[in-house]
Amino acid sequence: MQDWERLREKFNQAGQGHVFRFWNELSEAERRAFIEQLKRIDLDLVNALVRQFIKNPKRKKFEGELKTAEVISIPGTPEEIARAKLAKETGEEALRSGKVGLILVAGGQGTRLGHPGPKGTFPITPVKHKSLFQWHAEKIRAMEKRYNTELPWYIMTSEVNDRQTRDFFRDHNYFGLNPDQIFFFVQDILPAVDEEGKIILDGKGSVFTSPNGHGGTLLALRKSGALADMKRRGLEQLFYFQVDNVLVKIADPVFIGYHVLEKAEMSSKVVSKRYPHEKLGVIGLHNGRLSVIEYSELSEKDLHARNPDGSLKYNAGSIAIHMFRLDFLEAETEKGFKLPYHIAHKKIPYLDETGRRIEPQEPNGYKFETFIFDALKDTTVSVIMETKREEDFSPVKNKGGEDSPRTARRDLTDLFGRWLEKAGIEIPRDANGHVIGAIEISPLFALDEEELLRKIKPGEISFNGTLYLGDE
Ligand code: UTP
Repeated sequence: MQDWERLREKFNQAGQGHVFRFWNELSEAERRAFIEQLKRIDLDLVNALVRQFIKNPKRKKFEGELKTAEVISIPGTPEEIARAKLAKETGEEALRSGKVGLILVAGGQGTRLGHPGPKGTFPITPVKHKSLFQWHAEKIRAMEKRYNTELPWYIMTSEVNDRQTRDFFRDHNYFGLNPDQIFFFVQDILPAVDEEGKIILDGKGSVFTSPNGHGGTLLALRKSGALADMKRRGLEQLFYFQVDNVLVKIADPVFIGYHVLEKAEMSSKVVSKRYPHEKLGVIGLHNGRLSVIEYSELSEKDLHARNPDGSLKYNAGSIAIHMFRLDFLEAETEKGFKLPYHIAHKKIPYLDETGRRIEPQEPNGYKFETFIFDALKDTTVSVIMETKREEDFSPVKNKGGEDSPRTARRDLTDLFGRWLEKAGIEIPRDANGHVIGAIEISPLFALDEEELLRKIKPGEISFNGTLYLGDE
């Protein structure tokens, strides 16, 4: 029996034999590529998910007891300030000792942004239009310089963007980083299925697939050898962030410090929600276990619940910034993959009976994915630290409106505007308090306000609408 016949047999037995419907119309090369794709599909998993979510669906209802989780809030009292100082010193020590590495997840498809190419290649900075990848790399270089250390950087891609991501880094000389400190690894993919649980073809020799969600990081770290590499380098703590957050303080020593001091397994940064219906998951205790409760899962009552001081009760908005202890990452995948799958109803391009490709107007199928924050349930010790949104969180999700390139550039400009004002420089603002103009301060010039204040003197710089400060 030939390779493809065996494969067809397997797909037939799994009730997915229809994927070979157009086999006779494929060229030799197309057949080879198709076989390669089909071999990568975990049919047992797909069918288990179809059984779980499509054949025997349980209404997804949020049940059980919900409580707020303990959060380290932004320091205000002298005790809190002293505690944050100690955390910072602890984090700085961990950085200097070379025990900290970085995990960036960049395997998503960036569907909403619609940029041709990996999201990390999107030109984002307000003046020089540096890419997200370059912007992160400059922060990393600046941290390395500050703490005289190297921060090994593990970058997760997926089949859809792996080649382009690696090429982009290579073509830009790794943005001044040592190519040896960068470890690309690829997450798994899963096919989408239609309303009957049948795998969807989006070409005659191609199945529609998507990456298995950022939860796939855990499995991919192990499979790719990244965990072993971390061990070999003597890393103990990993800072996790997403490619689309332009403000993220990479390897923030205060956050690392709290996490280390508490001997936490996995920790999270949170921001206060802006309003009850903001689409941000909140961290809480669900039946006694830490969880991110998605916005859609909270009842109206819980969404609006308030504390005596008027603040929202479920207010710990999760911003996908985490710390992981290496041994926790190892334990999470020691006996296979533990994270639960979630299902999403989506519009998925498909071939009709005649082989014509259709772009549906309504959701017609399901994608499966996993979420990294589900690992919080497996922790026994976890730190949740509040941070200021305007200093740590501005994601690029959409083409326009909220969480778009426009808001990301505005938030960067506003951040730098505040730093410059502290240095005595006059910055014009509009009626909403946003800076009028564009400001960009490369992390290589100043990573934070304190560094900027050391570098420039009042009167040395003036602002006339556009300002760039870099080390070039
Ligand atoms: P999002 O869930 O916002 O997805 O990912 P996305 O791909 O950026 O955008 P949409 O939803 O298709 O419009 C948040 C972060 O998680 C990563 C993304 O690259 C981004 O950094 N991610 C997401 C992965 O690495 N893998 C995935 O399977 C999903």
